Amino acid sequence: MDIQSVGIVGAGQMGNGIAHVMALAGYDVMLNDISSDTLNAAVHTIDRNLERQVSREKITAATKAAAMARITTTTTLGDLGQNDLIIEAATERESVKQAIFDELLPHLKPSTILTSNTSSISITRLASRTDRPEKFMGFHFMNPVPVMQLVELIRGIATDSETFEACKAVVDKLGKTAATAEDFPAFIVNRILMPMINEAVYTLYEGVGSVSSIDSSLKLGANHPMGPLELADFIGLDTCLAIMNVLHDGLADTKYRPCPLLTKYVEAGWLGRKTQRGFYDYRGEVPVPTR
Ligand code: CAA
Repeated sequence: MDIQSVGIVGAGQMGNGIAHVMALAGYDVMLNDISSDTLNAAVHTIDRNLERQVSREKITAATKAAAMARITTTTTLGDLGQNDLIIEAATERESVKQAIFDELLPHLKPSTILTSNTSSISITRLASRTDRPEKFMGFHFMNPVPVMQLVELIRGIATDSETFEACKAVVDKLGKTAATAEDFPAFIVNRILMPMINEAVYTLYEGVGSVSSIDSSLKLGANHPMGPLELADFIGLDTCLAIMNVLHDGLADTKYRPCPLLTKYVEAGWLGRKTQRGFYDYRGEVPVPTR
């Protein structure tokens, strides 16, 4: 199946990045969110990020204009129904994703491939509640989407090979690299990355190191572009905690227990960059460690 048009549900951090790369690759993009303010902010962010690529001479101004012209927005979920591919990139809560699929399903054409950008929720379980488990799979981008090379493709138990190949062709057209993961909790990237971040929080909790010494250690000692606590703030501490809980519940192994300090930050509403406070305080000129 040849994908020409893509509907994206959710215009937050991931959704606007996905719209950016899809439009740049030549797909017609319809971006949906319940909030028109979020949609307007997303279009503004895409424009700014494309402009950054123009100013660094990665793309031309004409390419940027063509990409922007391919993006339309809507607050009505059913409008997405005629697209060839849907990528759901809403909040990482199963009940939210479920409600979106329930509302969207009656509007979909029979051939539409339905995917989720979930970072950890079971694809097989999400698929089983739709009318098309064979045309359902995981399409997981990394943040920031325009920069990160990888897309994880996750097959549910029922996903057919035509669906997988169609999604793989989209990843190729984006100029990104696909890694295929089996459908087990948190797939590959987060199965490995989140326990490392959680361990960094334990290292802080136990007083082995400060925020600065932990981040410097991994940046300078292991050549990571960001320290694990800086990265946790970048991803969102609520998302990190949600993924640790999926690992803990899904694999039933105590080695995945979320650090109580991570839970405490989330309960405080200190969720990282998006709330201006997490392991660092972002309200001033430069980020300041909060411990
Ligand atoms: N859109 C377009 N381009 C962007 C961008 C954006 N949103 N953000 C950064 N860039 C570009 C910059 O223009 C710059 O391009 P050039 O190389 O042409 O100059 C390049 O990316 C590097 O950016 P900066 O110089 O501003 O900043 P940096 O060198 O500090 O890199 C970073 C920023 C790419 C985010 C880097 O710090 C990094 O790789 N961090 C780790 C990110 C990571 O691990 N992401 C995965 C998170 S896990 C995940 O996403 C899965 C999940 O489910 C939770």
